[in-house]
This record gives sequence, C-alpha cells and structure tokens, in this order.
Amino acid sequence: MPKNLISIQDFSKEEILHILSVAREFEAAREQDFLRGKVVACLFFEPSTRTRLSFEAAVSRLGAQVIGFPDNRNTSQSKGETLEDTIRIISNYVDLIVMRHPMAGAADIAASVAGVPVVNAGDGANQHPTQTLLDLYAIEKTQGTLENLHINMVGDLRYGRTVHSLSQAMHFFHPTFTFTAPEELRMPRKYLDFLDEFGIPYTQTERLEDHLNDCDILYMTRVQGERFPDRDSYEKVKDVYTLSARGRNFHRCRYHPVCLLLPAGGRRHVCAYGDYRLSFGLPVKNTIFEKY
Ligand code: CP
Repeated sequence: MPKNLISIQDFSKEEILHILSVAREFEAAREQDFLRGKVVACLFFEPSTRTRLSFEAAVSRLGAQVIGFPDNRNTSQSKGETLEDTIRIISNYVDLIVMRHPMAGAADIAASVAGVPVVNAGDGANQHPTQTLLDLYAIEKTQGTLENLHINMVGDLRYGRTVHSLSQAMHFFHPTFTFTAPEELRMPRKYLDFLDEFGIPYTQTERLEDHLNDCDILYMTRVQGERFPDRDSYEKVKDVYTLSARGRNFHRCRYHPVCLLLPAGGRRHVCAYGDYRLSFGLPVKNTIFEKY
C-alpha cells in the first residue's frame, strides 16, 4: 500500500479490491480498536459534513484520538502561516493527517512536507479518493459486481472531484460511461484522455433523458457553485438537471440505483439517493430511498 492517499491512482486494482474486502469485514464486525494509542489529525480547510465527521467517527470507533479543525480561521494561517508550515508542525503531534482543502494539489503539497502519511479528503476540483472507495463499495453492493457496468455521470463533471476519481478507479473494471453535462460543465479533457488510453468507451450528451433507462448507475452530482469564477456563470447552470419525485423523468430510472452525491445543493427535488460512508472501513449507511 502507498504511504499517502492523494489520488485514487495511488492504488492498484488489487489494493482497491483489498480495501473493499476489509470494508465488508468491518461492516460485519464494527467494534475493533486496532488504532488504540494513535492520534489522527482531521484538517478541514473547506466545509464538510460527511467526510469530516465520518473520518472522526471511524477514528474514534477504532480507538484512536482525533485532533484538528473544521475550518482554518482559528489557526495561525489567519496570521500568515503557510500550508507547508501548518502541516510540518502538526506532523509532530500525530500519526496520520486527513486533509481537505479548496486548492487542487494541496494534499500533494502537504504530503511533500509531512512526516506522517497524508490522506486526501478532497482537494479543490481535483480528486476525492476516499469518496471513490465508498462509491465503489456502494456500487458493488447494489450491483453485485464492479465489472462491465454502464455508469451515467450527471451534472458538474468539470469541477466535481468525485467524478474524476471514480472514473479513474472504474477503468480497472471494464465500464461504459455516459457523461451528461452542459457544455460549460463537461468532463475535462485530461480525464477523457485517460479513458482513451485504456480503451474505455464513453459518450457525452447534454440531455438527461438520453440515458436514464439504459444505465446501471445514475451518478448525480451537485453543481459546485463554490468553484465557479463568477456568480452569473453559476446561476446559468445551477439547476440544470433535477430528478423530481413529481417529475416525468423519475419513473424512467426507478429500476436501477440512483447515486446522489451529497450534499445535494439548493434544490431538494431529488427523491432517491444512495448514501454510503466507507471512511477507512466503516460503512455507516446503506442505500436510503426518501421522498421530499
Ligand atoms: N460527499 C462529500 O464529500 O460530502 P461532504 O462535503 O459533506 O464531506
């Protein structure tokens, strides 16, 4: 296993399958304390509900202590301390750093100066590898396999870091992709090039209705307003796709799982979601279906 988890590409197929296997064991027997005596830092420079609290819950349940912060306003960064210095200092206190940051590449910078392993809990629009592990866990659980699935990724494919990590992880498992996004939010060229390199088939469309019926997983993402250069360009696309319990489109996808990446954003019309939280082997929830 690699020392750090910065990108999902740090893992081989065998390592991913091993982690999923360990996660299944944890789901069967949650009470384990093999991290007793360790201290883990959860450093969140950007807002989070699920990732931060699930890491903290997992670390606590495994017997370790958690230190850290949910935002960096009360750290010495407000007095000019650099990211590198913050990480160097905290490395002296802990055995592992879990970190979220709004800047793409921040986790890589942290890993380059940290004296302890670093886990990327999301860096800007770049990667979200731990979310991908739990997405894989949820997909395998609902489909019975990771192999030969048609995954329709919908929404903000440009800024959505979970989409980037998951598409790269799935390349091991012979997927077919549909990328459903408006022109402004299309999948970045570098991820399409990656799929081309491995001969993974994909189509791109702007129409949500094109592949509601014929995919195995509908992977709905929030439009990431916080990453847009200006408010007007966000307003133009913010509600571009919705699945509504009362809408005409939902009945077309009720026979396969809808994986709504939370947080769901402003509109609460989406009526079905899968919420798994793996976080170092602790799946917290199974698929939930709710109506709003
Ligand atoms: N999916 C996810 O990363 O959620 P949070 O932003 O709440 O951590």
